[in-house]
Amino acid sequence: MDEPNAAPPGDDATASAGGPVLGVPKETHPGERRVGVTPDVVPALRKLGWEVLVEPGAGAEAGFTDAEYEEAGALLARPPTYRDAASVWAADLVVKVRPPTVSEVGRMREGAALVSLLFPERNEEVVDALAARGIEAVALDKVPRITRAQSMDVLSSMANIAGYRAVLEASQVYQGFFGAQVTAAGTEPPAKILVIGAGVAGLAAIAAGRALGAEVRAFDVRPATKEQVESLGAKFLMLDFDESGEGEGGYAKVMSQEFIDAEMALFRQQAKQVDVIVTTALVPGAKAPTLITRDMVELMKPGSVVVDLAAEQGGNCELCEPDRVAVHAGVSILGYTDLPSRMATTASRFFAMNVRNLLKEMGAPEAGALPLDLDNDIVRGALQVHDGARLPPPERAPAPKPPPEPRKTIEPAKAQERPQPKTWRTMVGALLVLAVFALVGLFAPAAFVQHFTVFVLACFVGWQVVWSVSAALHTPLMSVTNAISGIILVGGMLQSAQPTLGLATILGAVALFFASINVFGGFLVTQRMLRMFRKGE
Ligand code: NAI
Repeated sequence: MDEPNAAPPGDDATASAGGPVLGVPKETHPGERRVGVTPDVVPALRKLGWEVLVEPGAGAEAGFTDAEYEEAGALLARPPTYRDAASVWAADLVVKVRPPTVSEVGRMREGAALVSLLFPERNEEVVDALAARGIEAVALDKVPRITRAQSMDVLSSMANIAGYRAVLEASQVYQGFFGAQVTAAGTEPPAKILVIGAGVAGLAAIAAGRALGAEVRAFDVRPATKEQVESLGAKFLMLDFDESGEGEGGYAKVMSQEFIDAEMALFRQQAKQVDVIVTTALVPGAKAPTLITRDMVELMKPGSVVVDLAAEQGGNCELCEPDRVAVHAGVSILGYTDLPSRMATTASRFFAMNVRNLLKEMGAPEAGALPLDLDNDIVRGALQVHDGARLPPPERAPAPKPPPEPRKTIEPAKAQERPQPKTWRTMVGALLVLAVFALVGLFAPAAFVQHFTVFVLACFVGWQVVWSVSAALHTPLMSVTNAISGIILVGGMLQSAQPTLGLATILGAVALFFASINVFGGFLVTQRMLRMFRKGE
């Protein structure tokens, strides 16, 4: 018999909600403790126009109680308002962490939307099920890694946590200190950590290792990472091989076998020296390269640790077993694939904030549904199933054309008829300046002409200095302009200190005022910048 408040399947998510419903189910993947929406983002989602419906207990393992969700303004999917917890699946939009299973897709309302990690290349069956039910599927793992989408980049925020946690997990297994110790009982050198792959996870692992006092060295196929590695206090290992791994969109490209062999020779040498190896090497869409082989593990000291972050994509270590700790020749190889879930509270907060930012980018629900602007490169990149079909990857913007070769011959008619606007403007400007100079030269006293010339030259040089210097050099430029302001201050003081009030004293005071703004503003900005580099402020 139906329960008294039972609604027909598919209807109960909207039964008592005011607006379109965003459902938050409890994760069912074994060991998954994160939740897709946390109480702190509920008000923002409601402001956007979504009614948030949470499965009771959805946030429990990440430390968020049902009461906290209710206080934040969410509804709980339980009687008497809702038939049961499964009502969240009938929502207009389902937000979750892991990709849904095929049976979970079967519980979703036809034509609804999904926002979650999806990894479509590994989950073809699920993608087909989503297409068959006409569900609009937004894969968080496909949000393009562009600056504008950084605040929506779940992969980066989770990799950051994973890298940090990898080092902490290694410290649990490693039987020694990470930092150097000098005690009455003896001295201990710092542990040596090798990080392979200096992407988001790798850099977080380097920072965590350094923070614990370990000596860290790192390697990456992308030379651009050298500076980042060194800025974190680690040593960048160089390979004498002329091949750059720089691929598209800041990711690496698949390297030649010769390169892989060369880097493996480097790791073989390192294996004898280091106590911990953290591997994070990955090229998106390809199987993780095998970089640490059985013989390298055997070269490591007993008690050493390998943490393989790429375990889910086949592993960087030949002996890695996903979700397990394998021990070989006294070396522990950690193949955890749930590192962010081991810090479920923070990971859920970051995840939910990324989702909130993406939904904000997409805009308020339209006609009760998730709005999908296919002209928005972030939305288009993440959208995997649309209108009941799988979407092909978005077309990349055409590479910028190389600048045209300078013309050797000019077609006289065209070139003279239509001069370039910039040249035209420069010519008019130069004529005007000449005319002003001629007028001043004719009528003004000689002393004024001299000052006027200096003034015009100063304006010109100032303009060129500010507009033609690259942004990267603005800090040294600031110190130079501060020095110039110092000269102006001295001049301004001399002029304004005259006993009688005249044009010169007034102009001197004005110069004093503006130069002081530059000097004191410079100090303030410098102080702010220094504070950014100081820890704990
Ligand atoms: P990423 O793409 O930012 O970094 C990967 C780095 O590996 C890149 O810098 C790339 O240049 C480098 N790389 C590629 N091939 C290499 C090679 N042959 N030798 C040396 N370096 C190479 O990726 P991200 O976000 O840092 O993730 C790293 C790994 O961590 C991925 O496998 C990801 O799936 C995994 N991950 C694992 C988690 C877990 O719980 N186990 C959680 C989150 C991420």
